[in-house]
This record gives sequence, C-alpha cells and structure tokens, in this order.
Amino acid sequence: MKNEQFSFSFKVYNSIDELSKEDAQLLHEAKKATNNAYAPYSNFFVGAVAKLKNGVMISGANQENASFPVGICAERVLLSSVSSQCPGVSIETIAISYDNRNSEAESNKPISPCGICRQTLVEYEQRQQQPIRLILSGMEGEVYTIEKADLLLPLSFTNNDMK
Ligand code: THU
Repeated sequence: MKNEQFSFSFKVYNSIDELSKEDAQLLHEAKKATNNAYAPYSNFFVGAVAKLKNGVMISGANQENASFPVGICAERVLLSSVSSQCPGVSIETIAISYDNRNSEAESNKPISPCGICRQTLVEYEQRQQQPIRLILSGMEGEVYTIEKADLLLPLSFTNNDMK
C-alpha cells in the first residue's frame, strides 16, 4: 500500500483591480455576460467568456428550463459555442462570474464550476492539447486564477481510459 496525494496551487487576488489589464477585461466581459442568462428558476445568473488564440472573445450564459435538468450551465453553453463557431481555434483563458439575484444573496465569492462542467472542460482541454486558464470570480471580491482546467478534476475519466 502507498499513499498518493494530489495538490494544486492557484492564485488569489483581492479584487479585479490586481489583475493584468487583459485578465481584468475578460472578467469584466464575463460579468456583463451574466445579463444574458435565462435563470428565472434559480435567479443565479452566470456568465462565462473565452479568449481564443486568435484574440476573439466568445461568451456564454446559463440557460434554464421549466424541466430543471434540461438547463445548461454557462460554461457548457460557452464551450459548445466556441466549438461550433470557431472550430479548431484554441481557447487560452476563460473568465467566469455570477450574479446571485436572490434577495439577501451576495455575489462576492469566486464561482466554482460544477462537476459536469469540469468534465466538459477537461475533454475540451485534452482535445485542443493546450491548457485552458481559468479566472473565477463573483461580481466583486476575490478572484482566483487556475493555470489548467484539469487541475479541478483529479483522477478524471477521459478517453485514454477507454483505450
Ligand atoms: N450554473 C452555471 O451556469 N455555472 C456554474 O458554474 C454553476 C451553476 C448555473 C446552473 C443553474 O442555471 C444555476 O447556475 C444554479 O445552479
């Protein structure tokens, strides 16, 4: 028997003001994209924006449905859009933000992508063979940056496991 350990490091910034100009701009776009969410059931508006290798920015926002499981997270709306609108162009960085519009709720803790989105991000990263950097934040407060999406999903199941 042996013990294995997994750890990863990420950066924590006190606010958007500490980011580089480029990252701040992307995060700003992600905050704006929260307005494109259709979230009448959760009132939790998520925006995600990808900066591609060719400089293009594409955005996504969560789209809910009266049949709750049909709803799609902002991250997967975004990845599907990039894949279909700019096939073959790598994603360099994705910024994700949210606006929790439920009464009394705050939006000042960095968002963390759900499990299904992590799985989707890992496949996308593997497919493009280039790391996807993540910038995670709320409407205000701390910002996390993570250098590679697959760090969020240790021991993940990928197509390599089917070979
Ligand atoms: N949601 C996202 O779009 N991304 C996340 O990272 C977490 C959750 C959405 C799904 C649903 O529409 C709402 O937020 C509440 O879970």
